[in-house]
Amino acid sequence: MDWWRQAVVYQIYPRSFADSDGDGVGDLRGVISRIPYLAALGIDAVWLSPFYPSALADGGYDVDDYRDVDPQLGTLADFDEMTAGLHARRIRVIVDIVPNHTSNRHPWFREALAAPKGSPARNRYIFRDGLGPDGAQPPSDWVSLFGGPAWARVPDGQWYLHLFAAEQPDLNWENREVRDDFTTTLRFWSDRGVDGFRVDVAHGLAKNLVEPLEPQAGMKDPIDGALPPGTHPLWDRDAVHDIYAEWRQVFNEYDPPRAGVAEAWVHPSRRPKYASPDGLGQAFNFDLLEANWNAGEFLRIITDNLSDAQRQGSSTTWVLSNHDGVRHATRYGLPPEEYRSRDNARKWLLSGGTSPRLERGPGLRRARAALLLVLALPGSAYLYQGEELGLHEVPDIPFELVQDPAHARSRGAEKGRDGCRVPLPWTPGGPSFGFGPGAAHLPQPAWFGPLSVEAQDRDPASTLVLYRQALSWRHKLQTAESMDWMPSTNGQVLHFARPGGWRCVTNFGPGPVPLPNGTVILTSVPVEGNQLPADTTAWLLSS
Ligand code: NOJ
Repeated sequence: MDWWRQAVVYQIYPRSFADSDGDGVGDLRGVISRIPYLAALGIDAVWLSPFYPSALADGGYDVDDYRDVDPQLGTLADFDEMTAGLHARRIRVIVDIVPNHTSNRHPWFREALAAPKGSPARNRYIFRDGLGPDGAQPPSDWVSLFGGPAWARVPDGQWYLHLFAAEQPDLNWENREVRDDFTTTLRFWSDRGVDGFRVDVAHGLAKNLVEPLEPQAGMKDPIDGALPPGTHPLWDRDAVHDIYAEWRQVFNEYDPPRAGVAEAWVHPSRRPKYASPDGLGQAFNFDLLEANWNAGEFLRIITDNLSDAQRQGSSTTWVLSNHDGVRHATRYGLPPEEYRSRDNARKWLLSGGTSPRLERGPGLRRARAALLLVLALPGSAYLYQGEELGLHEVPDIPFELVQDPAHARSRGAEKGRDGCRVPLPWTPGGPSFGFGPGAAHLPQPAWFGPLSVEAQDRDPASTLVLYRQALSWRHKLQTAESMDWMPSTNGQVLHFARPGGWRCVTNFGPGPVPLPNGTVILTSVPVEGNQLPADTTAWLLSS
């Protein structure tokens, strides 16, 4: 029933995975064609980022219709075929639900624009009058997460809230109709055989919009824990859990119950509530997305998350990369910085990948070591497409081709997230390295060729083969959700044991350390003798 508790979930960003028809955009038939690849990888589930009809103002996170497939990506029949094909290979399917906002092309928003102030159609969203004598000032000085004001004005003078792009108007979750429509959507996909839902901006739905609205300056980031829990007007309010309690009832109508995983950027102590069995069941732990390659940081993050999850009876999750951040091979090849700072990666992207200097080899070596470390931990692991090829971030997409709204809305202060969304290389050559019969919707660099699936497929030293071996061993070795730290004399080494004799040791330091006793079954890079080299992980069996 709880298949997800220790599942390995592979994130597909559909527009950049595989293109079956040559229009440059990945599609569901592309996914279908790669089911054998996914099965050989050894994952337990896929999570598909949005494939719904969308104008792509935010890569598909601006949804026009929650119960259909974008015609460019396929049809509902393709979706059903894909789900059946994945299920036949014992791969579960998780889809992305985007409840905080619709797109501005959603029929509800069109209706709201055509309807008068104060109408039921406007009440599905968050419309307010502006400030100042003629209402020309926005209702508050709130800033969108992509930069620029979080309010946009409509022709009759009212303003609507959009915490992301202006094309993503926020829904009013105090409206019963909004709530009911989403449970209809959850049933729609569950009835089609979907096994679970990844919930976008799960911490944002319940808002306190009692006037006067709080000024931006007073609104501390709730992740820092600087505010009393649950008191931020926009994020992580306790009332949000009433929504997920309703969703849980829908999930439990199915056998097995549908699973949920929250994208909730909240203080770690608040995460278990989202992951509670009465709520979504699981929540992303993004701590490793923001950490350096550093034994102390990994130790703290692992310890805290395992104890938080245990307290709540949930299982934790491990995420090294996703579609919103710089790939971890690249992060580990840039100079270390303060925890949670993304300055180096931001600067590096804006410089087109020239400064600070990226050490590609060490970055990938650490990424491989990090993978074995997280795959040995209790809980579930989320992998992001392309990390199994050891891809680095693509930093040099020409500014005029950048698609991410964060670039324009920040007036160029951010390069955006396209560098991790470049279509995958499947073959060493061809018009888009085997992504499809035509060109790709974002330019692929020449260095993608040697990293393509075909190039790595039979190379025993390749990152792809390492992923397959690791996932295969993990299936055999995975047991109860517990682990014990093993004593280590070196602060740069993390060593832990899982029930059944499975042990994992990672050397974060610059020089070799003695390998502990045991039979080595897998190492992140080839190891000879009884020393564990720098930036390397080994899996052992107790002898
Ligand atoms: C989080 C998603 O992961 C991201 O890609 C998106 O831009 C925002 N939510 C808004 O939906």
